[in-house]
Amino acid sequence: MEEEQMKLLKELSESFGPSGFERETAGVVKREAQRYADELTFDKLGSIVAKKRGDSDSPRILLAGHMDEIGFVVTGIDEQTGFLTFSPLGGWFDQVLLGHRVTVRTSSGPVPGVIASKPIHLISPEEKDKVVKKDSMFIDVGASNRVTAEKEFGVRIGDPIAPWSPFATTRNGKVIIGKAFDDRVGTFVGLEVLRRLKTEEIQHPNTVYVAGTVQEEVGLRGASTVGNLVEPDIAVALEVDIAGDVPGIKSSQAPSKMGRGPSICTYDAMMIPNQPFKAFVIETAEREKIPYQLSVDPGGGDRCREVSHRESGSSLHSDRSSNQAHSLARRHPRRR
Ligand code: CO
Repeated sequence: MEEEQMKLLKELSESFGPSGFERETAGVVKREAQRYADELTFDKLGSIVAKKRGDSDSPRILLAGHMDEIGFVVTGIDEQTGFLTFSPLGGWFDQVLLGHRVTVRTSSGPVPGVIASKPIHLISPEEKDKVVKKDSMFIDVGASNRVTAEKEFGVRIGDPIAPWSPFATTRNGKVIIGKAFDDRVGTFVGLEVLRRLKTEEIQHPNTVYVAGTVQEEVGLRGASTVGNLVEPDIAVALEVDIAGDVPGIKSSQAPSKMGRGPSICTYDAMMIPNQPFKAFVIETAEREKIPYQLSVDPGGGDRCREVSHRESGSSLHSDRSSNQAHSLARRHPRRR
C-alpha cells in the first residue's frame, strides 16, 4: 500500500467514533471524499454520501461502509473514589475488556483511563477462576472522587468512551494492528474507489455513491437512512469478515483466511445476495485475476469484536431488492 493510503487508514483507525459520536471520523471521510466526489450529501443522522457521476445516471451503485466503532458511555461517577461506571455501545465480549486503555471524550477534551476491576490480591481463589462481568468493572481515570472527576477532568454522565489502541504494523509490515477496523477498513475501501475513479480517470457506465454510515453497531440505523437517500439499484456493503485461520476454528465455521483476498459473503443469517450479481462479481474477479474468497456467516455465534482481532478483508454483499442497503447491512445480526 502507498504511504499516503497507509496514513489515511491509520487516521481512520485512530479517530474517535463510537456509535452516535462519529463526528471526528466523519470529518476525515468528508475531507477525503470532497477531493474526489462530484457532490456530497448528508442524512440527518450524520452519514455521508459522496456521488461520482459516470456516463449514465443509472444503475445507481451504492458502496457503504460504517464509520462507527464499538465503545461505551459513562453511566456514573463514584462519589468517594471517582471511578466511572460504563455501558457498552455495540457488542463487546467481557473477557477482552480488563486492562484496556480507553479515552473518555469530554466537553473539555480527551481523558485517558484504564478498565479495571477489584485487585487480584484481594479476591478469593474461587473468584479468580470466574469471568469478571462488565458490571463489576470500572474505568480509572485517576480522579480521587466524583467532584475531581467532574470539575478537574470534565467527565459527565453520557460522555462517550473509545478504546485507545495506536496503529502499528507487524514485523514483516504485512499486517496491521489497531482498533475499529470494523468498519474503518470498509470506509477506507469506499474512499479508495472514489480516489481511483477520479485520479485514474476511469470511465464507468453508472453513478457511484460511496457512503460512510453511522450507528451500525447499535442497530444499522445509518444504513437504512442512506438506503432511502440514494435509492440504489445495486448496493454493496463493505464490511469485515472473520478470519478462520485462528487456532481452534474449523474451516466450516469461518472459511476465510487472512491475506487471501476479499471475501464475498454468499449467505448470512439475515441475507442471501442477488445470485446473478454474485456470479458477475466472481466472473469479474477471475477475469481480472483478483484473488477472492467465498464466505458465509451463519450468525447466531458470538463473534469476538476485540480491537485487535484478525480480519481477512472486506466482505461484499449484493442485492437488488427494494430495500437494498437495509437488507445488505443486516450483515451484523446482533451478537451479544
Ligand atoms: Co461492522
